[in-house]
Amino acid sequence: FGYVNYLVEKDRKYILDTLVNGLSRLEYRGYDSAGLAIDGDKKNEVIAFKEVGKVAKLKELIDESKVDLTKIFDSHAGIAHTRWATHGRPSRLNCHPHRSDPNWEFAVVHNGIITNYKELKALLEHKGFKFETDTDTEAIAKLAKFIYDQHPDIDFPVLAKAVISELQGAFGLLLKSVHFPHEVIAARKGSPLVVGVKTAKKMKVDFVDVEPAEEGVALPAERASQNVALKNSNSLLAPPDKSLLHRSQSRAFLSDDGAPMPTEFYLSSDPSAIVEHTKKVLYLEDDDIAHIHEGSLNIHRIKKDDGSSNVRAIQTLEIQLQEIMKGQFDHFMQKEIFEQPESVVNAMRGRLDLENNQVTLGGLRQYISTIRRCRRIIFIACGTSYHSCMAVRGIFEELTEIPIAVELASDFLDRKAPVFRDDTCVFVSQSGETADSLLALRYCLERGALTVGIVNVVGSSISLLTHCGVHINAGPEIGVASTKAYTSQFVCMVMFALSLSEDRASKAKRRADIMEGLGKVSDQFKEILKLDKNIKDLAKRFQNHKSMLLLGRGAQHATALEGALKIKEISYLHCEAVMSGELKHGVLALVDEDLPIVMILTRDDIFAKSLNAYQQVVARKGRPIIICNPADPEFPSEKTDKIEVPPTVDCLQGLLNVIPLQLMSYHLAVQAGADVDSPRNLAKSVTVE
Ligand code: G6P
Repeated sequence: FGYVNYLVEKDRKYILDTLVNGLSRLEYRGYDSAGLAIDGDKKNEVIAFKEVGKVAKLKELIDESKVDLTKIFDSHAGIAHTRWATHGRPSRLNCHPHRSDPNWEFAVVHNGIITNYKELKALLEHKGFKFETDTDTEAIAKLAKFIYDQHPDIDFPVLAKAVISELQGAFGLLLKSVHFPHEVIAARKGSPLVVGVKTAKKMKVDFVDVEPAEEGVALPAERASQNVALKNSNSLLAPPDKSLLHRSQSRAFLSDDGAPMPTEFYLSSDPSAIVEHTKKVLYLEDDDIAHIHEGSLNIHRIKKDDGSSNVRAIQTLEIQLQEIMKGQFDHFMQKEIFEQPESVVNAMRGRLDLENNQVTLGGLRQYISTIRRCRRIIFIACGTSYHSCMAVRGIFEELTEIPIAVELASDFLDRKAPVFRDDTCVFVSQSGETADSLLALRYCLERGALTVGIVNVVGSSISLLTHCGVHINAGPEIGVASTKAYTSQFVCMVMFALSLSEDRASKAKRRADIMEGLGKVSDQFKEILKLDKNIKDLAKRFQNHKSMLLLGRGAQHATALEGALKIKEISYLHCEAVMSGELKHGVLALVDEDLPIVMILTRDDIFAKSLNAYQQVVARKGRPIIICNPADPEFPSEKTDKIEVPPTVDCLQGLLNVIPLQLMSYHLAVQAGADVDSPRNLAKSVTVE
């Protein structure tokens, strides 16, 4: 997060509060340690604060410091970061910002990984630089100083280009320097960066004010592959390339009389930290270097003449402040679970027409007939998003009769799986920034496949780079454990399957049943959420256990996988999802009267087989909690602990069944005293491979 004020008087307290508050909004992305850098009292002085742990700890450190909070800055640039450790354990030293030297001539904050940092470090050490941390990021700050020392007359963006041209890997970074006071460089390649702009008067700029795209934005494939093909052009020791500036676009925020206008800029890896300040934002694209100085924003491209425009339209954020506040809830995860009756409606709004039995997905319209003719559809995702793909595989196969593959992005890349021009590759991601998924997307683009994005975050890399797609419109998801994104992805993918099968008369009745089912999901969610107290009580049975099983069969195996992931990630109780049919082939050995077990036993066409697994468990004195339909005669009340969920069309039952598991994981975590929204070692958006 960064904050730059120009001709707007702010005291140091305001600047620090703004930076710390920005970090707390972004904390869900990483929370091992946090830090920031601001200007000192004297010229060319930088003050940095760094602390291990959450942002609140950093705030305590600042509050205890003797820094003069009343000092006024007419113009100022501050940068801040909350970390999810990749290189180097969480420690004050490894915490960002990183510096070029003890005087902080250059300070940098960085998301992503610099893969060639060892080579850079070796070279810089050879030149006399002393590294003080275990991070890859430190090399960026030191490289900046090295180049600056050789070319002290250099402009900040030219210097930034020289530095960035040497970096391999992925980054979203902010760079500040005592040599360029009140200026900031923001650069991205692979990690998102958004800039919010607040002006004192109405902006008079030649930006186009556009509404955010309602559907996936199409981008020509060659454009995407250019981004992949970025190669370092500069040699580290060659003089920096001044011609960089010839492709820059100056975007001055001028008042009517043409004079510089008081302006504030907010830089962030996610708009949720910006919305409380301004709704006017522009998203940087890969290979952009943005230079903020004297109230202007200039965007330069890393490569000259790479054919892409460097004009970034100002967009109006649609998120509301209350969407990123917890409100009456104790945790974001809890809030997001309870938002699902609305979020599924938002996924279907304007798309599902129940009167005419029609589904219209605007972002796919032009591509539907091509997809119908493809040789196969490959779904590629990670984590919860992978589970939502697993959950809809059956209904895709049934409705489209196209071969369907579901792949974990990392494994798909490890295998260098074959992909062809007549494949359709569907990338499912809440954030749209997950590095594994993004790399797999680039891999598929290079091979000429048609790519589809099913993404929550508008303007994210996956939504921009795919040929077409659907935004799931779940609203900001802050809890690290994904909940509402799962159900909205599920619904959007079912609608996708419905669109693809629109031309099949033989499927008309089935399609109509599914649409009717979709129309009822929101009310059924409300019914299930009323079971919260009951589920909380049931979860107490599992308190202080180390391990549990979650059984499901057919489409409910995906539900079990997702439920088990939720339980593991937030309550730290090891939970294994087992395909019920496989129980007897090994896992049954674990079952006794103590082992916590949850079984999904809602009615479907393989219910009789699922019952076999139930009998096997009960015969070993197992006492499972079961998720079943109301008043199912197979499970008399006095004998069983039950969570009753309403029946629906079989292919939608998983949507309903997952809610009790989300609630159970939540209560298990609260009981265990775990930090529900910030589970240890995890991050919401994993922008490293
Ligand atoms: C991280 C998160 C998971 C998420 C996964 C995929 O691991 O902790 O909750 O499911 O990334 O994220 P995506 O944004 O691509 O859906």
